[in-house]
Amino acid sequence: MEKIQKALEKAREQREDTGRPSIPHRSRAAHQRNLPIVPEEITYAQTRVVDTTESGLHDRRIIAGLTHHELSDTFRVLRTQVMKTLSASGFSTLGITSPNRGEGKTLTSVNLAISLAMHITRTVLLVDMDLRRPSVHTCFDITPEAGLADYLLGDVALSDCLVNPGMERLVILPAGGPLRSSSELIASPKMIGLAREVKSRYPDRVVIYDLPPVLTSDDTVGFLQHVECCLLVLQEGSTRKGDVQRTLNLLEGYNLIGTVLNKSSEMQQPYY
Ligand SMILES: Nc1ncnc2c1ncn2[C@@H]1O[C@H](COP(=O)(O)OP(=O)(O)O)[C@@H](O)[C@H]1O
Ligand SMILES: [Mg+2]
Repeated sequence: MEKIQKALEKAREQREDTGRPSIPHRSRAAHQRNLPIVPEEITYAQTRVVDTTESGLHDRRIIAGLTHHELSDTFRVLRTQVMKTLSASGFSTLGITSPNRGEGKTLTSVNLAISLAMHITRTVLLVDMDLRRPSVHTCFDITPEAGLADYLLGDVALSDCLVNPGMERLVILPAGGPLRSSSELIASPKMIGLAREVKSRYPDRVVIYDLPPVLTSDDTVGFLQHVECCLLVLQEGSTRKGDVQRTLNLLEGYNLIGTVLNKSSEMQQPYY
């Protein structure tokens, strides 16, 4: 953990030294060049409601909603810190990523989304962007009829993809798929239009993107320009120092607001 913290501190100091803006100019220019594709309005009125059981959630380590679980506090702390940052910056969109797969992105995204939806009066939209290895739906034990990939491929309406997992103020956009390749879809004008739409139409809504890993494809780094800030999940004792450094280099110029040390012996207090 010390090694990871040192790598993070060093990278952070280097970033601060550059005095770069949180969103690079090249991203803004690219952002402006893309013609907006306005997707249909996301409303929750027609969203399919699926019931989830408490014991099922617990078995899949979705514990943010449980009052008597020792780790629920961890996500409450994370929620407070994230909310503070979002409120202070006027942000409403957050991407969650990690260097590699299996480091806890989805578990963090789902637990944080539940924790936020339980606490705040804003609605939370959780988008499964890991189109190659989707798993948000499995956390809720949902079998989606359609998802983001189906919407982006053009044959399904967005409203037919949204699911409410039986929790107030939380809506899921499952990934659909899985796809063998997703870079083109994630970089497509339709996806960019959707990202703009979910951000701008309801400023009070918090949008959490469960993103693909940074090091296994260019999906995430390409998409981050459309997300206001991001969290990096690292797995203590597993994520290698070189991978952390390479990830931080790739995230340079993007708005990394914190790091979650997953599976940490100090998991009670997420490093942030
Ligand atoms: N803190 C943790 N303690 C125990 N198991 C965990 C923890 N974080 C993740 N896992 C498990 O590890 C696996 C990978 O986690 P996941 O969140 O799906 O990773 P990713 O989305 O980064 O690929 C899942 O089976 C998940 O339940
Ligand atoms: Mg995942």
